[in-house]
Amino acid sequence: MKVLDGIQALREWQSTVTPLSAPRTLGLVPTMGALHEGHLALVRRARAECDLVCVSVFVNPTQFGPGEDLASYPRDRARDSELAAEVGADAVWFARAEEVYPAGFATRIELPSLANRLCGIERPHHFPGVALIVLKLLHLFRPTHAYFGEKDYQQSVLVTRMVRDLDLDLAIVTCPIVREESGLARSSRNVGLSEAGRMAAGTLSAGLFRAQMAYAEGVVDAAALIGEVVAEIGDQKVALEFIELVDRETLEPLETVDPALGARLLIAGRVEKVRLIDNVPLGGPEA
Ligand code: PAF
Repeated sequence: MKVLDGIQALREWQSTVTPLSAPRTLGLVPTMGALHEGHLALVRRARAECDLVCVSVFVNPTQFGPGEDLASYPRDRARDSELAAEVGADAVWFARAEEVYPAGFATRIELPSLANRLCGIERPHHFPGVALIVLKLLHLFRPTHAYFGEKDYQQSVLVTRMVRDLDLDLAIVTCPIVREESGLARSSRNVGLSEAGRMAAGTLSAGLFRAQMAYAEGVVDAAALIGEVVAEIGDQKVALEFIELVDRETLEPLETVDPALGARLLIAGRVEKVRLIDNVPLGGPEA
């Protein structure tokens, strides 16, 4: 596996692996590093579907707001390279913020209003920053496929919408959430949780699973489903940000689940200052 540093190294690698006479599929797995099983599942999927697989590792400053965890975000280049190689990536790419956003960089992306809801309320900088870096990565790598995890459900909806709106010629592949044994959704930020914090964090997924069970027993009302999640979290030390039942594509709030259309139940909260997000599907065509 090649370890690539910066834009020039990426272009040189591209010129060796994509001669015009032999078009190939390239799967990009964009990450901010601190790779975990969730990322590795994306790389494995890309490996199964594409001729070439590249993992980008870039802790993107534009998607962090003032006072957020940009400085303390976990970084371990050697471990990330090792893990990416183990699951069969052809290249892992690292870049410095000064090269991605050189002095004078001024372009911004305006997103649809769904970027201002849910996670966008607490983190207004987040999705414009995500859209900017994802668009830049798609231009740099020119992948035929790009892989995103469903844990960041709102992100995957926004990226899919951006790619469709701008007629970008690639497939956005969203992959199911990978969970720890306790049910906690895998996240690079989980390392910031103590043992007790992990227990409290586990109630988020337990609450969502409880709502799924209630739905399977016939509960379709948003307030009742959300009530199941709240009851499961109980008096654990979780600072809840939101629990919302939303349309799977528009992320508009729903009052009930239409079983034929399905819905998504999303949650965000903080445990010991670690921001956690999770979600589950309810009903819908694939259920
Ligand atoms: O999901 C993430 O890790 C990041 O938001 C992404 C897509 C790599 C953009 O920085």
